[in-house]
Amino acid sequence: MKITFYGHASLGIEVSGKHILVDPFISGNPKAAHIDINLLQADYILLTHAHQDHILDVEAIAKRTNALIVSNWEIATYFSNKGFKSHPMNHGGSWKFDFGSVKFVHAVHSSSFPDGSYGGNPGGFVIEGEHKNIYISGDTSLTIDMKLIPMRTKLDLAILSIGNNFTMDVEDAIIAANFVECDKILGVHFDTFGFIEINHEEAIKKFFNKGKDLMLLEIGNFIEL
Ligand code: NI
Ligand code: MN
Repeated sequence: MKITFYGHASLGIEVSGKHILVDPFISGNPKAAHIDINLLQADYILLTHAHQDHILDVEAIAKRTNALIVSNWEIATYFSNKGFKSHPMNHGGSWKFDFGSVKFVHAVHSSSFPDGSYGGNPGGFVIEGEHKNIYISGDTSLTIDMKLIPMRTKLDLAILSIGNNFTMDVEDAIIAANFVECDKILGVHFDTFGFIEINHEEAIKKFFNKGKDLMLLEIGNFIEL
């Protein structure tokens, strides 16, 4: 499994020969100006919630790639009403796709579309594929529900929002990593705008001091599991 960071909470995941994009917000992020969305491959687009900083590039990418949009019922319906292919889910449900399985899990946040229309309830994803398991928290506070995840799934990586103000901060993300029982963390949702700037060295050290490995990727860089 190869995971590429496209800035903010945007990720590309390659698994079993398929390309999955998560929360594409790239063309609106000046820090990701070197990433050309016209070159990104996508068989699937997974969306944690409807906020602009997670769905901005969905239509442009899905139009070109014919990707299947996977999200909660309301977001999937919103995009299918616009003529896109979608697969609706809701909390606690999982589905086997051709690359592996996806479970839609709890997140504590909000989920309106940029025009104010209802975007259902926000979530995160647990993805199992190629014998690797990852958790994507989405935008969320720390929530005790995270403890449910390791009851079903032994994680290889937890992708956690760490930028504070709209989501967990570093301290809460460390507790989240304990809740999901994972020592390998990829941080997202930091530095994009003023409210969520973090001190990288300090964040990495705080995780290290708790026996955990926080990775903060340069935009466009990847890790392999
Ligand atoms: Ni949000
Ligand atoms: Mn966000």
